[in-house]
Amino acid sequence: KKTTDKDLRSPICCILGHVDTGKTKLLDKIRQTNVQEGEAGGITQQIGATYFPIEAIKEKTAHLETGEFLVPGLLIIDTPGHESFTNLRSRGSSLCNIAILVVDIMHGLEPQTLESLGLLKQRKTPFIVALNKVDRLYGWKSMTGVSFEDLLEKQAPSVKAEFEERLSKTMLAFAEQGLNAKVSFRNDDMRRCVSLVPTSAITGDGVPDMLSLLIKLTQSMMSDNLRYLSTLQCTVLEVKMIEGLGTTIDVILSNGVLREGDRIAVCGLNGPIVTNIRALLTPQPLREMRVKSNYVHHKQVKAALGVKICAQDLDKAVAGSPLFVIGPNDDEDEIRELVMADLAQMLESVDKSGHGVCVQASTLGSLEALLSFLKDSKIPVSGINIGPIHKKDVVRASVMLEQAKEFAVILAFDVKIDRDVQELADELDVRIFKADIIYHLFDQFTAYMNALVE
Ligand code: GTP
Ligand code: MG
Ligand code: NA
Repeated sequence: KKTTDKDLRSPICCILGHVDTGKTKLLDKIRQTNVQEGEAGGITQQIGATYFPIEAIKEKTAHLETGEFLVPGLLIIDTPGHESFTNLRSRGSSLCNIAILVVDIMHGLEPQTLESLGLLKQRKTPFIVALNKVDRLYGWKSMTGVSFEDLLEKQAPSVKAEFEERLSKTMLAFAEQGLNAKVSFRNDDMRRCVSLVPTSAITGDGVPDMLSLLIKLTQSMMSDNLRYLSTLQCTVLEVKMIEGLGTTIDVILSNGVLREGDRIAVCGLNGPIVTNIRALLTPQPLREMRVKSNYVHHKQVKAALGVKICAQDLDKAVAGSPLFVIGPNDDEDEIRELVMADLAQMLESVDKSGHGVCVQASTLGSLEALLSFLKDSKIPVSGINIGPIHKKDVVRASVMLEQAKEFAVILAFDVKIDRDVQELADELDVRIFKADIIYHLFDQFTAYMNALVE
């Protein structure tokens, strides 16, 4: 089949890096939004997605020398940098074609920078490095409408000197990881040498340079087959109740096309869910998928895009699972099995004899993070669940009161607990630890276990 410009697909770019290096803030700067300030504890705990149409990128890079733009746009995936979310960094990086690794110029390479580097190397993902927070160099003067190279020229000698010093340190740190790295405007071989783009997510300095470089990288490194639409590849990011729409799923469409009416299969807590797409919605361009907004309706959508799907029977859908479209010639039973594979794997970490704590989280991603923490702490798990805590969950946890009282506990991350459910827990003597910042939950539970030992 001959491919045409209409079959061009937007690449997926993942933004990775150590906690608080400014990943979300950089995206906020490009979008002119304020997602970061709305996050619990100012940390990202979910994968996010934003579509950047090529026109928006052109506009923002108008003052720079850029070549022709061939792709229709870019889907940028935001990931958490906190150490608890190794699983989500891995999932984000597995979805992307290119990446931005964000490094705080004042801190250099940190533990999750190295972890992210490892993921990129492993998957051979082309990437650039944003050397963020340049505005924190002492005496830095910011300016719009100029290239970063020109802006650097305008800085006082002491500022230039500090910049060069931090740059050399970073280059050295990359060399220790076996990577050649150069500041982007001195790098003439992107294939052999990683580009470091200095940026500030606060002032916006260097952000257009970063975008322009990203497009250049995409177009030079992405092979032809990545530029065109092919087989459907789609992952459920979130399951959300939306007033007027019912339970919806947010998905990342990495490849292929989805149409209204398509018969789809996703993983459900109680077994595979097979249903038909009733509506396909997207946020406005330049709006984060994680944030509620005015949705745009579509008859069909093309990769790559973050899409909200409305359909029946999605209540028990599980975030993190793959989504398949069932075509007329597909073996439905085979697909039912495929969508359940990840959850089946996770259920294996649950103690079959029913000995251990219960864990309840808002998404599969955070549930995975909790399970890995409990595994490292050698705490057995007797039950897992996704979504709000109900009375039956409390009753299930209370079974442990007779066996091992200390495990008559529910760890609840970012889920709703109604008052009557809490009252039942109090009555039955089941402890519910709840938090909307994951490491607070770890801290609470560790303190509780330590107190028991003493
Ligand atoms: P996680 O998602 O939690 O890993 O963090 P992140 O990498 O998304 O960083 P985030 O955008 O949450 O920013 C962390 C903090 O650094 C916030 O207080 C930001 O305001 C601040 N920050 C981010 N970028 C810059 C920058 O370029 N300059 C300065 N001065 N502060 C910045
Ligand atoms: Mg963030
Ligand atoms: Na943060």
